[in-house]
Amino acid sequence: MSNEPIPTVPLNNGVAIPQLGFGTFKIPPEQTRDVVTTALEVGYRHIDTAQMYRNERGVGEALAASGLARDDLFVTTKLNNAFHAHDDALAAFDQSLEELGLEHVDLFLIHWPLPAVDKYVEAWGALEEIYRSGRARAIGVSNFQPNHLRRLMDSTTVVPAVNQIEVHPWLGNEDVRAVNAEHGIVTEAWSPLGRGRLLEDPTIMRIAENVGKTPAQVVLRWHVQRGDVVFPKSVTPARIEENFRIFDVELSEADVADITALDRGERTGSHPDEMNNTGR
Ligand SMILES: NC(=O)c1ccc[n+]([C@@H]2O[C@H](COP(=O)([O-])OP(=O)(O)OC[C@H]3O[C@@H](n4cnc5c(N)ncnc54)[C@H](OP(=O)(O)O)[C@@H]3O)[C@@H](O)[C@H]2O)c1
Repeated sequence: MSNEPIPTVPLNNGVAIPQLGFGTFKIPPEQTRDVVTTALEVGYRHIDTAQMYRNERGVGEALAASGLARDDLFVTTKLNNAFHAHDDALAAFDQSLEELGLEHVDLFLIHWPLPAVDKYVEAWGALEEIYRSGRARAIGVSNFQPNHLRRLMDSTTVVPAVNQIEVHPWLGNEDVRAVNAEHGIVTEAWSPLGRGRLLEDPTIMRIAENVGKTPAQVVLRWHVQRGDVVFPKSVTPARIEENFRIFDVELSEADVADITALDRGERTGSHPDEMNNTGR
């Protein structure tokens, strides 16, 4: 167990979200309980999962087995793409609670806007109902471009608490981060390590050498110094531990600027305007 203090960031409704969490995309369902147990033992208290990952049950089993108090945990899940219709969203959320073995989640997100499907405003209506019922302490979106955000805010009541978007040194996504900030929406940076490839970037390796940290730690530190929330994923115990040890180092402004300058608009995942796959 670790006593490493994890800073929190206030959401727009006052709920505090731990700035460092643990991602679970691509963790196979049968491995999830053990991997999330390792993360909880290291000290992570914020877990990011999704209906699409098919591993909510394993996450829930690890949470239950940990014996940790519910109030000490922050659990996010996300609405799958097939369920943007109002009643489908409500039913899918009930299913998530059942799989997670929880009475509420801390954050529930629309996973993708699916612009060609054009039902995210309807889905948000369901999320607002869930929020008002207290079964999600906060609600937000993921992969929303500025036009999706503006349309949502023009047509609905609750401003999203977060927008979870792809951000890493090779994809600054600054325009979306700026619109998020303008509206008090916290940016969550997904694939914060660029899924591992950018860790061999010479600039990142040079800074890592200088500050006595690993490239992954330097990249995660860059994210938190910019104010974003991150949840690196790993199935490797040594890396799960490594990624947690980022609060005993401070990058200089020049180091942060050098990493920010690596932006080359390179995505590891789909562009939100082009992602319309409902899996049906
Ligand atoms: N909202 C969305 O649409 C969306 C999309 C993608 C991701 N996410 C969320 O964001 C989380 C993180 O993103 P991600 O999983 O795509 O990518 P990531 O966290 O940027 O990178 C994960 C990859 O990096 C490797 N890795 C982890 N720590 C490392 C270290 N210290 N040194 C070297 N390699 C390391 C992992 O390998 P091993 O596992 O083999 O150790 C894995 O291959 C996801 O798990 C998910 O919760 C959300």
